[in-house]
Amino acid sequence: MNLNKLINENKDFLGNDVNVYFSPGRVNLIGEHVDYLGGNVFPTAIDLGTYAVVSKRDDDNFEFLSHNFKHYGKKTTSINCLTYREVDNWANYCKGMIDAYRRLGHKMDHGLNILIYGNLPNGAGLSSSASLEVLMGVVLNHEYSIDIEMVDLVQIAQQVENKYMGINCGIMDQFAVGMSKEHKAIYLDTNSLHYKLVPLELGDYTLVIANTNKKRTLADSKYNERRSECDQGLDILQKNGAQIKNLCDMDDAMYQSVKHHIPNQTIQNRVTHAVYENERTKKAVQALEKGDIVAFGTLMNQSHDSLRDYFDVSCTELDILVDAFREHGAIGSRMTGAGFGGCTISLVKTSDVENVINKVKDTYVKHIGYHADFYPVRTSDGARKLESEEIK
Ligand code: GLA
Repeated sequence: MNLNKLINENKDFLGNDVNVYFSPGRVNLIGEHVDYLGGNVFPTAIDLGTYAVVSKRDDDNFEFLSHNFKHYGKKTTSINCLTYREVDNWANYCKGMIDAYRRLGHKMDHGLNILIYGNLPNGAGLSSSASLEVLMGVVLNHEYSIDIEMVDLVQIAQQVENKYMGINCGIMDQFAVGMSKEHKAIYLDTNSLHYKLVPLELGDYTLVIANTNKKRTLADSKYNERRSECDQGLDILQKNGAQIKNLCDMDDAMYQSVKHHIPNQTIQNRVTHAVYENERTKKAVQALEKGDIVAFGTLMNQSHDSLRDYFDVSCTELDILVDAFREHGAIGSRMTGAGFGGCTISLVKTSDVENVINKVKDTYVKHIGYHADFYPVRTSDGARKLESEEIK
């Protein structure tokens, strides 16, 4: 989408004086379903994401319009009435951020017109919601000269997702969307929020995203279910004397010594995933830093197998893609994000990308009956206001 064209087409709504903002989506390279268990994650922002074109209003209203969801029409809300409303649909993410900023005492002496356009596939597990929340935070910072630091903004966005939208997610998505740098991935300790930017140097390999295009209808309830299973596991271990605050405080040796306290096999499987996924993430970052891409790929494979067998968040569509990528030469392939549909990422020899994608494409359509979509991962800086030369 050409941004200038989008702005011109919406002149009636926006007027002539606009600011433009961009917020990326993300993929997680490894460290899945551990960001709410005090574990380490390793995401990177991608160059697909969400744009906002914003102009000032004279009154106290906010008007939201989405180029992607034109059929929902304009959503209008007063600065004094920011409660969640089902009918406001996607605009609730924006309202939630405004509400959070107001509760923190930030003054907004006029309203805004906000046009949203996104090129992230929706509901594909590439964090379109975190992208929109963090985008809105950046808009509010600039439009009202509020100086909330990005590291705080992303935590406000997570709170909005948890408390306003009712999804119990961890901090990974908002952190990646806000704090990323191009050509880097973020090695984040979700317990302390200490992080390190690691160059994403993959040698002869390219990371390829594949979208199952499966509707993720049960994802939210299953996500909250996994969280509560992990809470049960932690509770049992603490009651039996384990000196831990989070499941990911355990290394292999400690887990082996306390594992027998968890009688329920399902709960034990969830904890097994958490402990070893956290260990794998540490090893994967070390491997990448040493330039050992094959070891990195092997850990990606192990991560997927654990998410499928122990954490039970994969599905046929994701498994078909992962198996096909591996069969056709990927050295690592795994689901990324919450699962139950969404996307995979695979490490493929750069010279072979097109060939591998074509083979995986055929296998997928043969088994599933509809198409998957494929994109190379291109990294991006975190959410920001765009300079005029970037508006093309
Ligand atoms: C979703 C959540 C994240 C994280 C992942 C799984 O994307 O929003 O916080 O838990 O699932 O790793």
